[in-house]
Amino acid sequence: MFVGHNSNNLSTIKSKTLKRNWGVFMDPIRLGVNIDHVATLRNARGGSFPDPIEAAKIAKKSGADGITAHLREDRRHIKDDDINRLVNEVDLPLNFEMAATKEMLNIASIFKPHSACIVPEKREEITTEGGLDVVGQSDRLREICNELTNMGSRVSLFIEADEAQIMAAAELGVPVIEIHAGAYSDSNPEDSFAELDKIKNGIKIATNIGLECHVGHGLNYQNVEKIAELRDVAELNIGHFLIAEAVFSGLGNSVKRMRELIDNARVQQE
Ligand code: PXP
Repeated sequence: MFVGHNSNNLSTIKSKTLKRNWGVFMDPIRLGVNIDHVATLRNARGGSFPDPIEAAKIAKKSGADGITAHLREDRRHIKDDDINRLVNEVDLPLNFEMAATKEMLNIASIFKPHSACIVPEKREEITTEGGLDVVGQSDRLREICNELTNMGSRVSLFIEADEAQIMAAAELGVPVIEIHAGAYSDSNPEDSFAELDKIKNGIKIATNIGLECHVGHGLNYQNVEKIAELRDVAELNIGHFLIAEAVFSGLGNSVKRMRELIDNARVQQE
């Protein structure tokens, strides 16, 4: 942690910290951009546009520190070739989200992603609902975590901010947990403080036993600051909101460009 400010690198600090009162500067937080939903849009038409790898490159240019992609068992968004291209064409660490299965372990062994985040996966769910039950499946997870670690990937477990789950994760020897922020993100204003407190408490427990804490799921412009203010959060992984918001921040430009092209075409034909 950096205390006070130093005029030599003030501009770097300004751009990398979120503290508004110029008091205490915290370490910058890493931003992982999840590009799954660019693939969802692409797959809606079955072609190659929009390309999630191009989205990853834009995310890099715009300040992302890493790319997150979830290769689901049913390949509903990201596909195997996307993972191949993310590893080979994008100069950012890949956080490979995966279910704890042999198939995913085999794929990880081919691409050796920088990090692997183990998530629960149910075929019928719309998105990752709730955290992984580490307590209930620690033997199976231990084997998978060890294999991923031996491949050189940094393993994290996507869990609720629950003491028993956090302790079970630590017991497996993983270096990182990602706290599922869904209950906080989905809560109404009256409940959000209690949900935030649960996350804070989870981070405290995890940090005290040496785990690095990431947070993800449902973060948006409205709810992200309260999480980013937590000093011991090292990384946020954000997807759906960023891709959805890009529709609104970008749609005006794409309609204008289309207007221009079709109007110009009419002039040339006269
Ligand atoms: N982190 C993990 C482990 C996830 O599984 C997901 C997707 O559910 C995210 C972060 C990103 O969540 P969202 O798309 O809601 O921002």
